[in-house]
Amino acid sequence: MNTLDHLFENNKEWAQSITKEDPGFFQRLSKLQSPELLWIGCSDSRVPANQITRLAPGEIFVHRNIANLVVHTDLNCLSVIQYAVDILKIKHIIICGHYECGGIKAALDDRDYGLIDNWLGYIKDVARLHSEELSKLEGVEKQSRLCELNVIEQVSNLRNTTIVKNAWLGGADLSIHGWIYNIGNGILKDIVNVPSEG
Ligand code: CO
Repeated sequence: MNTLDHLFENNKEWAQSITKEDPGFFQRLSKLQSPELLWIGCSDSRVPANQITRLAPGEIFVHRNIANLVVHTDLNCLSVIQYAVDILKIKHIIICGHYECGGIKAALDDRDYGLIDNWLGYIKDVARLHSEELSKLEGVEKQSRLCELNVIEQVSNLRNTTIVKNAWLGGADLSIHGWIYNIGNGILKDIVNVPSEG
């Protein structure tokens, strides 16, 4: 007995319910995807891109990593961005952070978490960049503010990639949005916007 059988059951019911509403749905999607949105979010299980924005399969291209970072040397994230921008011609990139982020909390304490400490170093850099503001805050307030500042810094990293710069030089209509999600009430908030420079 497979303990994950219920997932296959869920899947069958889900596919049937969509087909019932729209018989051609899966056949259409199997031929092409043309999303206008790229989501760069946290891996946190409580922040699923499609569900919190109520978007169907095919509507949003997604990359997730711990603490929604855009690292200049991360081939994985950069490849997703390049494919989304150059091939899919998406129009909006959303970097979505969230309050109560485990990655942000871990970056603020001095415990040894193992390999991931190397990844958290990028968040520690953000904290150092904003140390003056953060030093005036404590506890949850400090964590929450670092969650926001991290989104703002990742938007800036994204904007500085050769991918985005070249897309704008080529006249692409591409804007960047920094959002933050509140796990406690399910609400998204817009915190920074970079209009298209293409
Ligand atoms: Co997180």
